[in-house]
Amino acid sequence: MSEPTRETAHVVTVTGAAGQIAYSLLFRIAAGEIFGPRVPIELRLLEIPSAVGVAEGVAMELEDAAFPALESVSVTSDATEAFDGANAAFLVGAKPRGAGMERADLLTANGAIFRTQGQAINAGAADDIRVLVVGNPANTNAFIAANHAPDVPSDRFTALMRLDHNRALSQLGHKLSVPTTALGGMVVWGNHSLSQFPDTTYLTVDGKPVSGDLDTRWIEDDFIPRVAGRGGEIIKVRGSSSAASAASAAVDHMRDWVQGGPEGNDESWTTVAMVSRGDYGIPEGLVCGQPVRSVGGKLEVVSDLEISPWQRHRIDASVAELISEREAVASLGLL
Ligand code: NAD
Ligand code: LMR
Repeated sequence: MSEPTRETAHVVTVTGAAGQIAYSLLFRIAAGEIFGPRVPIELRLLEIPSAVGVAEGVAMELEDAAFPALESVSVTSDATEAFDGANAAFLVGAKPRGAGMERADLLTANGAIFRTQGQAINAGAADDIRVLVVGNPANTNAFIAANHAPDVPSDRFTALMRLDHNRALSQLGHKLSVPTTALGGMVVWGNHSLSQFPDTTYLTVDGKPVSGDLDTRWIEDDFIPRVAGRGGEIIKVRGSSSAASAASAAVDHMRDWVQGGPEGNDESWTTVAMVSRGDYGIPEGLVCGQPVRSVGGKLEVVSDLEISPWQRHRIDASVAELISEREAVASLGLL
């Protein structure tokens, strides 16, 4: 009797493997939440040399969990080795923001990391590589990485804005007294920063439009600043930046990308910061939060939504910040 052929393992690279987010994220990847519980996974953990020891401890715990799908875990401080043959990459490793810092302050500290990693992805990743940048400033770090990977299609580089999207759903679920699963049509435009625009214009509950039922004062004075400022609020209350909720959003993002979604619902979309192709007047190349769905494992921008002057103004303000970050990247010599 012949043995059933075992599927080749998916190589998944996670940077910043000794950090807070990775400590939650790695166990969910290994549990099969992205590719499916039985699809074999080879985990590659990338860390800076001084944190390799901690990452090795995390690798030991991953082994101890005896996940059925986890074929192997390795730890390295060499980016070329970490991304060789990678099918999916979570670029988490970066210095997080402390109290009183804005995300733009991180560009100088973190930008160079994403140049090196973009180059390593370009050199060795698998043809179907999917990249999710989590490390801040996430949109512009993804922009840097994509620019250093000219052989990889730019739609393979994304940044995490699903956390902002999920935060918005949670606030709206409370406001409307409905479960978040009833909500559709939410989008968070722009940058993962205070300038972002969580937009309820197309919001639905159980498929029915509801945005007219929401008080515009509440949207402008409470909802938008609450969602956009939630990262800072968490830092203030928790003493360090969000970790498990960021990991959870990263799982949602990559799962929907791989498996199709959101949740197989062709009528709706989720928020992904994707490399702009010029939709909605967003300059080409900027990594910007947009309404996106995954069809057949490929991300597609939902590009035919009507935009009011009020939305235009809000989108443009966040895009202006992305443009200024692009200029800062150029002046730092990171392009
Ligand atoms: P952390 O400090 O706990 O961990 C970061 C890890 O990255 C550290 O272990 C560090 O050694 C490692 N690292 C630094 N440079 C590296 C490199 N060149 N290669 C590999 N690893 C490297 O931080 P955290 O709480 O896990 O947060 C990680 C990043 O995610 C931060 O930039 C944070 O601001 C960001 N973040 C983004 C979102 C989002 O929604 N986009 C949400 C939360 C946090
Ligand atoms: C978040 O949104 O929680 C993170 O980006 C952390 C931060 O710096 O705000």
